[in-house]
Amino acid sequence: MPDIKILKSQSQLPDLLSFWNRNVIYDPMPERILQEKTFDDPDFNPDLTFMLIENEKILCFMQGLARQIEPDLKRGWIKLFATDETYRRQGFATKLLKNIEAQMKSHGIKTIRLLDCNPNYLQPGIDPRYTEAIAFAERNGFKRFADTSNLEVDLQHQDFDTSAEEQQLASENIFIRRAAQSDWQLVENLIENQFKAWLPEIQTTYQNDPISLHIAELNGKIEAFSAFYSNNLNTGWFGPMGTNPILRGKGIGGILLKRCLDDMKKQRHKISIIPWVGPIPFYLHYANAKLTRVFWRYEKTILD
Ligand SMILES: CC(C)(COP(=O)(O)OP(=O)(O)OC[C@H]1O[C@@H](n2cnc3c(N)ncnc32)[C@H](O)[C@@H]1OP(=O)(O)O)[C@@H](O)C(=O)NCCC(=O)NCCS
Repeated sequence: MPDIKILKSQSQLPDLLSFWNRNVIYDPMPERILQEKTFDDPDFNPDLTFMLIENEKILCFMQGLARQIEPDLKRGWIKLFATDETYRRQGFATKLLKNIEAQMKSHGIKTIRLLDCNPNYLQPGIDPRYTEAIAFAERNGFKRFADTSNLEVDLQHQDFDTSAEEQQLASENIFIRRAAQSDWQLVENLIENQFKAWLPEIQTTYQNDPISLHIAELNGKIEAFSAFYSNNLNTGWFGPMGTNPILRGKGIGGILLKRCLDDMKKQRHKISIIPWVGPIPFYLHYANAKLTRVFWRYEKTILD
């Protein structure tokens, strides 16, 4: 029987990465993304991150994670999981899942979900083309509660210049710019008041150079924002974005979206991914974004 080991050192990442990229065909990662999903997640917990190993070979990997999503609510996730293709259907993933569930229960966690652990996640659910994963989830008592999708934008063949629209807005005292360090307090006010769930993502944009956030200011207040690289850094990952409802319908969101896309284009990305949407017609209109991947979202109650 293989040994259960925890992921506790970054020196284990190269082996884990080659295991992942051999076995998870639609979501290969560079090492920096695996590092971001594991050790760089503030909630990373080696005691919930298991590998089954035999003769130094990884047979199965499963990363559990718990986040405090409200002051009195902690939710669990299976963030990443895979079994080596030649060792499937031997109960290995089930064994690691049971281990993680037992620990989560002992900490009073009532529900667990699969993959969609924002703000730091690889994908917003299970891509149903991983049909074995769908079978595995349903066999283990997970219930599908929602679907979502990702869009893709072709950056190479579009022009995202917004200077004319920005001039028009400036005549109405609405000013669009990249967020600066000195804007933080105003940005935080908007996010705290209207888009609180996205605060961690917006904080992440302030760690990037340049800050990967564009904003709209009216009368000394920030009223709209759009972000990129708040997750899956340097992969063309867009979002989140939001406009104060009182200013919607003026084209502000379209300008802010295009500014982010233009930044990624200048960084030589060919496509941008708009994950976990959202208003599909809006993104189609401003950026000719097309639906590419769908995801099924699963939840399981482990404690009543
Ligand atoms: C999903 C995955 C991790 C399952 O790993 P595993 O070690 O084979 O899972 P288990 O052996 O514990 O399977 C448990 C149950 O899931 C179901 N199941 C798993 N694979 C199945 C298959 N190929 N056909 C039918 N049912 C399947 C079965 O009900 C099985 O129980 P049973 O054998 O008693 O009928 C594995 O198929 C895999 O790595 N897939 C690719 C990566 C992936 O999809 N990752 C998740 C999204 S990123």
